[in-house]
Amino acid sequence: MPSFNAVLLNLLLPVILAVIFFRSSALTTLRDGVKPLFTHNRLESNDTVVAGPAGQLAEAIDALLSPHFLLSLVVSVISVYVFVYLYQLFFVPLNWTRTEGDVGYILDDRGGKSKMDVANEIRRRRRMGDIPPVYPNGWFALFRSFQVQKEPRSICALGHELVVYRGESGQVFVVDAYCPHLGANLGVGGQIRGDCLECPFHGWTFRGDDGKCVKVPYAEKVPDFAKIRSWPCLERNGEIYVWHHAEGAEPTWFPLEVEEITSGKMKYHGITEHFINAHVEEVPENGADIAHLGHLHSPIMFLGRDLRVIYNLFWSFAKHEWQGTWEIDEENKHTGTLSLKHKCTVFGIPLPLLSVTAEAVQVGPGIVHLVIHHWLFGDAILIHTITPVEPLKQKLTHCCWSKSFPRFAAKLVLFAECLQVERDMMVWNHKTYLSKPVLVKEDSLIAKHRRWYSQFYSENSPRYTEKKTEMSW
Ligand code: FES
Ligand SMILES: [Fe+2]
Repeated sequence: MPSFNAVLLNLLLPVILAVIFFRSSALTTLRDGVKPLFTHNRLESNDTVVAGPAGQLAEAIDALLSPHFLLSLVVSVISVYVFVYLYQLFFVPLNWTRTEGDVGYILDDRGGKSKMDVANEIRRRRRMGDIPPVYPNGWFALFRSFQVQKEPRSICALGHELVVYRGESGQVFVVDAYCPHLGANLGVGGQIRGDCLECPFHGWTFRGDDGKCVKVPYAEKVPDFAKIRSWPCLERNGEIYVWHHAEGAEPTWFPLEVEEITSGKMKYHGITEHFINAHVEEVPENGADIAHLGHLHSPIMFLGRDLRVIYNLFWSFAKHEWQGTWEIDEENKHTGTLSLKHKCTVFGIPLPLLSVTAEAVQVGPGIVHLVIHHWLFGDAILIHTITPVEPLKQKLTHCCWSKSFPRFAAKLVLFAECLQVERDMMVWNHKTYLSKPVLVKEDSLIAKHRRWYSQFYSENSPRYTEKKTEMSW
């Protein structure tokens, strides 16, 4: 089903273009010059015939090439594109997807390698020391609700191949992808039957809520042991979350519900997606690393994301200023909050339109609700999720919601947040995790955050071990 935006671009745009052309005076000249070719119209006494149809054609071509016509053509095309740009800015949610390797890598002197090759090379070469387990216990986002509708969706998360589908009752299920019969992937051609999923290979059918096989189309009896793993999951705030626990324990806490999203009072303003090559804990730890705010996130955002250019002294008269503190919620131990004050200043003078206060509420190891308060536009919330794909590869998403922010302002907030995160990504993608970092007193929140985060690991939490090849000479 084409989006409204695509319809606008492909159908309405040529129509608008044609209307503007038709109304231009140059085209009127052209049209009047060509008319006798098609209409055999009567000549008025004062009409001048140049040289029959050939002359009229020459006149038409002259009109087409006249500066007046060319100028109006250029103005018309620019007007249409400005119109489309403004329409997108003010009415279309942001959709910004970066593939792996897009952000944070330096391609110079890499002998023509692709961004993906460079990302893989750096990941392979990087020294990872004594790192914490790679898949913490908690809720992790797999998809946005609108991404799972009629078709089952495959995804790799937490080192597993999974299938997410919406049964005919509307309920969402998450199951292991591989069929226990002969191993077909249920996410590739699997069919939804009621709340069950039918394998594309021989038609075995599995129940979503407990994974039990309920039908083998060609067998008299369904074996009791025929089942797939069904994962605890829930849909909240427009996200589909799965529960992961290394010991298989039931959830002891749940993602916070934002009532205004559930009730539809908040409007959706867009999504961004990134892949990060780093240990999962690096990302939330950023919230307790107050010192990096005043350095990495200080250069004005128009300088971009490339760490090689943002520290430009010429532009240092304009910068972002941050004050923050991070605390654990004593009643809900799985929750920690970074409280932030942000100002944008030019020669030390704050720009009120670009100043906000915010709370980044970390809910478990993989969810953050970044609540932004703006004195003019009201409140917006960025639901930020981080999901391990593989041991050292994370998927990061941000979805922006607000009831009062105008669309362009909400998109600017989302864009600014992601631009700042892309600066972090350039660090994360290249750094190593130090289990014993050298910290000063002012870094004490980092150590506090590590102690807090360790509650999400348990005895059987999967660990990453580097395979080292011994070289003997
Ligand atoms: S592999 Fe799935 S039914 Fe045979
Ligand atoms: Fe950061």
